[in-house]
Amino acid sequence: MEASSDTISRKLLNWYDAHARDLPWRARPGAPAPEPYRVWLSEVMLQQTTVAAVKDYFAEFTRRWPDVSALAAAPDEEVMAAWAGLGYYARARNLLACAREVAARGGRFPDSEEELRALPGLGAYTAAAVAAIAFGRRAVVVDANVERVVARLFALDTPLPGGRTAIREKADAITPERRSGDFAQAMMDLGATVCTSRAPRCLLCPLSAECEGRALGEPERFPVKAPK
Ligand code: ADE
Repeated sequence: MEASSDTISRKLLNWYDAHARDLPWRARPGAPAPEPYRVWLSEVMLQQTTVAAVKDYFAEFTRRWPDVSALAAAPDEEVMAAWAGLGYYARARNLLACAREVAARGGRFPDSEEELRALPGLGAYTAAAVAAIAFGRRAVVVDANVERVVARLFALDTPLPGGRTAIREKADAITPERRSGDFAQAMMDLGATVCTSRAPRCLLCPLSAECEGRALGEPERFPVKAPK
């Protein structure tokens, strides 16, 4: 039997309310949404870099440049030096270009996925993440963790990269209208801490009863990668 999307999002959000990781760029439970600047900065840093590695950089950037206009006014060399160690320097150059564009518009990030997508360095993932987490817009946020959770939940076995189309469709189908930012972050936390690529902890998973990959007895088989 196919689990209903409402059941999945309700169970996942309940789990998140109890188990969300306490991360510096998140709002405290019950507090208003975090500032777009902090969400954007963290999401850019988290591309290709782990949560553990990002924490200190995030603290240092927000201490030195507490808002987007402060970052926009910083000399290039200082920002590039502060970025050293995070790697992928094109991200840092785009970060500055984006900060300057937002500062030029009065320091406010646009609040729709489409307008966010037009800013320097914001790909589909980052635009969706900022729209959902900072602005409460419904957006479908899919990173590698979310991909793994969704592929297992629905036992999607079309190999990646082609299989991403079906994964995205399912992710869209289970994304709720309300709290889609929390939903996305819950999927990420679940993927990082429970639905891990190896040795998933299905006994701790709020979605184990709904999980088709688990029902088949081999959740680790998903997502299927194309043979090299
Ligand atoms: N990875 C990328 N963005 C994240 C977020 N907002 N929370 C947890 N992990 C993430």
